[in-house]
Amino acid sequence: IANGLGMTPPMGWNSWNHFHCDIDENMIKATADGLVSSGLARLGYVYVNIDDCWAEKTRDCKGNLRPKKSTFPSGIKAVADYVHSKGLKLGIYSDAGFYTCSKTQPGSLGYEKQDAQTFASWGIDYLKYDNCFNDGSRPTVRYPVMTRALMKTGRPIYISLCEWGDLHPAEWGFNVGNSWRTTNDISDTWESMISKADENEVYAHLARPGGWNDPDMLEVGNGGMTENEYVVHFSLWAISKSPLLLGFDVANATATRAVAHIVGNEEVIRINQDPLGVQAKKVRMMGSREIWAGPISGYRFVVMLLNRADTGDDDTVTAYWDDVGIPPNSVVEVRDVWEHKTLGRAVAGNISATMPPRSCKLYILKPVG
Ligand code: GLA
Repeated sequence: IANGLGMTPPMGWNSWNHFHCDIDENMIKATADGLVSSGLARLGYVYVNIDDCWAEKTRDCKGNLRPKKSTFPSGIKAVADYVHSKGLKLGIYSDAGFYTCSKTQPGSLGYEKQDAQTFASWGIDYLKYDNCFNDGSRPTVRYPVMTRALMKTGRPIYISLCEWGDLHPAEWGFNVGNSWRTTNDISDTWESMISKADENEVYAHLARPGGWNDPDMLEVGNGGMTENEYVVHFSLWAISKSPLLLGFDVANATATRAVAHIVGNEEVIRINQDPLGVQAKKVRMMGSREIWAGPISGYRFVVMLLNRADTGDDDTVTAYWDDVGIPPNSVVEVRDVWEHKTLGRAVAGNISATMPPRSCKLYILKPVG
């Protein structure tokens, strides 16, 4: 949507994957503190997004949404002021139906103008807009009502569509939001993560600056996957130009230190934030061996060599210049962005790596002659 936002995929944190409904104003503020003190904010993780369960079950007598007294006693505006004072942005969650997905608070259907005004008056910078408990009408009818209401407030608010139903939001989302979900909810397992990446890849051609495919939020740091699996997870999200919304407990410094080398890898973040904004695609599949690739700025290419076998011996995966779109016989400089090493110049017309099951290599290729 042409609101000037999301020219690169949004980066930040969201409360849902780790905390679900167990949220309050103190932990939201502590998360903002954690993003700053860990250095993650400086790397671009600036959105602090409150997901479901922040409001009272009913509206006030004027029809306004009310922050839950027991968990957000100071109100959302106070939280926004705090988050803004740290140089960060605040996101919130609502739903294009009668209730949100948790059913603990009202949805915005029929109250779009009023709620958009409320969010803008609180200083909200990002709205995740879900699709539960709706009236059965088309999302292409219901969602634009909120989009127009948000744009009318005059406040720049990033619009995240959380609808992956029968209408394939990737096909209409660009006119309504800055990103759209392409899958149902992720969970913290390899099988869930890799299937979301696959489902999201189908829509690669529809992603571009201002509108991104969203295979759901990151699970890195939540404990359900191995180190290699989380590296694959973060690599896939980065090259797929997915929103990079952290889903672990960023307020916990020990938890943050444990994954800082993954989610804080600047070279990988730069691939995600590349100004070209082209989502990588699968360009070769050979059983459990896959090559994902796409162009980035400066006539460079990002290439992922993936061994997605669940078990077994190490396997060798090879990407050919041909797969990537580099002319044969080109001299190519190869940068390994996980090892942080330039591997020298490859002229063989391909690059190979041997790796264990459920792991990957991520390279930037730069033709130099
Ligand atoms: C849906 C969304 C999740 C989360 C929950 C909250 O399931 O897909 O990301 O927002 O609702 O109830």
